[in-house]
Amino acid sequence: PSLEKDFLPLYYGWFLSKKSSENLRKTGQAFLDELGSLKVFKKESKYFLPAEDPKVKLDLTSYFAKRPPGVLHCTTKFTDFGKAMGADEYAQQEVVKASYGKAFTLTISALFLTTKTAGARVELSEQELLLWPGDVDKVLPTDNLPKGSRAHVTLGCASGIEPVQTGIDLLEFVKLEKAGNKGDEIEEVGGGKLQYFGNGMWMLLLSKKIEVKAIFSGYYG
Ligand code: A2P
Repeated sequence: PSLEKDFLPLYYGWFLSKKSSENLRKTGQAFLDELGSLKVFKKESKYFLPAEDPKVKLDLTSYFAKRPPGVLHCTTKFTDFGKAMGADEYAQQEVVKASYGKAFTLTISALFLTTKTAGARVELSEQELLLWPGDVDKVLPTDNLPKGSRAHVTLGCASGIEPVQTGIDLLEFVKLEKAGNKGDEIEEVGGGKLQYFGNGMWMLLLSKKIEVKAIFSGYYG
């Protein structure tokens, strides 16, 4: 038994390889470019424009100007250096220790965008779900969503929005899906089927899912 207490990271997660990061950023950028140019999107762009000046030209790239620095990641557990609820319990799991530093392949099944965030939805494998915490797939304490519902990669945030919002936004999509709302199927675009859920909530279901390489590890800031 060691005398030192483990020093926990700010968060645990999968960190994409440099190449996978670059590819996913490009795919996300292409999605913003294409969506921004669509008539159906322009018709609904009021959600992204200031109420006092709704005629201003919308540029989604500058709208989501807060982009994660360095390589992209998919957070599993935000441990806040050990201060977060459930941090120690998460860190002490055998599967977490055994997986630390190991390589995984994550599957990206969709890209989504709200007035606050842009992200990529991650579909976790059985093995990856073992690393998923039991307490993060809810917005409200009463929410009961499938494990891994929140899994995502943040691609960008609007001004004044923190990245924690991306997971919350994805959970809102999942809640709508669960309630039977499939979203208006807008059209087939380059990468797949574009769905609109109203209120500026867009999701592109990728016809060809993207696989990215990632290392499970901790980020200490
Ligand atoms: P994500 O982008 O995956 O949602 P920060 O830079 O604000 O300290 O956050 C570091 C990372 O930890 C963010 O990228 C965000 O990841 C995630 N994060 C921050 N706060 C929380 C939280 N309260 N719950 C879950 N994840 C969080």
